Amino acid sequence: MAGDLKLSSVTRDLTRIERIGAHSHIRGLGLDSSLNPRSVSEGMVGQPSARKAAGVILHMIREGKIAGRAVLLAGQPGTGKTAIAMALAKSLGEETPFAMLAGSELFSLEISKTEALTQAFRRSIGVRIKEETEVIEGEVIELQIDRAAASAAPSKTGKLLIKTTEMETTYDLGAKMIEALTKQKVQSGDVIVIDKASGKITKLGRSSSRLRDYDAVGPQTKFVQCPDGELQKRKEVVHCVTLHEIDVINSRTQGFLALFTGDTGEIRAEVREQIDTKVAEWREEGKAEIVPGVLFIDEVHMLDIECFSFLNRALENDMAPILVVATNRGITTIRGTNYKSPHGIPIDFLDRLLIITTQPYTEEEIRKIIDIRCQEEDVEMHDDAKGLLTKIGVTTSLRYAIHLITAAALACQKRKGKLVEMEDISRVYQLFLDVKRSTQYLVEYENQYMFNEVPREGDDDDAMHS
Ligand SMILES: Nc1ncnc2c1ncn2[C@@H]1O[C@H](COP(=O)(O)OP(=O)(O)OP(=O)(O)O)[C@@H](O)[C@H]1O
Ligand SMILES: [Mg+2]
Repeated sequence: MAGDLKLSSVTRDLTRIERIGAHSHIRGLGLDSSLNPRSVSEGMVGQPSARKAAGVILHMIREGKIAGRAVLLAGQPGTGKTAIAMALAKSLGEETPFAMLAGSELFSLEISKTEALTQAFRRSIGVRIKEETEVIEGEVIELQIDRAAASAAPSKTGKLLIKTTEMETTYDLGAKMIEALTKQKVQSGDVIVIDKASGKITKLGRSSSRLRDYDAVGPQTKFVQCPDGELQKRKEVVHCVTLHEIDVINSRTQGFLALFTGDTGEIRAEVREQIDTKVAEWREEGKAEIVPGVLFIDEVHMLDIECFSFLNRALENDMAPILVVATNRGITTIRGTNYKSPHGIPIDFLDRLLIITTQPYTEEEIRKIIDIRCQEEDVEMHDDAKGLLTKIGVTTSLRYAIHLITAAALACQKRKGKLVEMEDISRVYQLFLDVKRSTQYLVEYENQYMFNEVPREGDDDDAMHS
């Protein structure tokens, strides 16, 4: 099998689903060109040293040569650890793979923990493969589609007259080509590339000889030179796929559909070995390059000792991605053992990590984050109301304050208001409890709940805040 390894032409946008929600306002780390954080930029506010450190990591990743580094984001709940990881992902660009996994997910999958981790690792390692393909590249002189005379059925044949500066040729078109050309809205004067193997058509732009056709031109039209030389030529194209994508496509049971359903099951070790050997061969021949990406494991304290040993080993591999983990735990038990350690992470693994800490936000920063979230959620809010929400954020938590934005907007809608006012905020503040008030309530009414156990001194919680 290894000889004719299959490759996907699955495009990135099908496999990477954009998440909207808690972090949708974050578009990047908001750094300037010398990696210093701008105070508010790309949806990010404050947290300067953590963002700067993340910027250094970003730089390491862009260099692409460093494998197997690992970073820990540690800090209190709601201080932006996940936000920073998402920002890092956004700053990486389309080509660099980014995979994300929450520690708790590992225990709810049908596959084993180590298989899930292996898949996550291989999702975050890209392979850039160079291939030569035959293409037809030229300027369309005439596109003629023959409509079947009597019927209303879509036309089936046609002709394409296309030229370079040196030659021109007419090609007969089949239904598939006609469909592709129609879909791309190709018309005479366009410069196009047709991939001969796949039939894929790419529009490069309008020929600059048509500069004077004002009527046919929209504001974003790009003008390009009419290509020279032969119409048919060999062109180098570059695909970027992850090792995991190659694994899935080549694994016997599911094939390529599994990439869409996500239902990949366990992949046999032999398949992976063959793929690794093949990729190594390609690298030697200069046909492929490894693009180490980022694997982000959130809630890393949920991993158990077996997972940590696995990570230890996996980071030694020369194709390892950069691993970013995050936790809000202080000194706590390492899952699967009776030992306690910082963040619930074994000391030997901790020793490999570069640690970035996040700090609680100031009132002003909370205000700015609330501003940004109001914009993101399309909520118009009175300044006083924002002020009140900020106060609530300071005394309860940033997350709670962010959650109240949508709720308050609904309250406002209900009274047919246009602008969210203080009254809306105080209504939802009374309607939904924050942690402190909820705990207080529980203490007052403890007898009315089932399985009630009064917490003993000292074992209440091991989160960093207490
Ligand atoms: N510096 C920031 N700029 C803009 N938005 C932020 C910033 N920090 C946090 N947020 C937003 O505040 C909310 C809480 O932050 P986040 O989820 O990143 O906290 P966390 O540190 O991961 O908390 P936990 O430990 O509970 O997982 C999110 O909606 C996040 O997008
Ligand atoms: Mg988080």
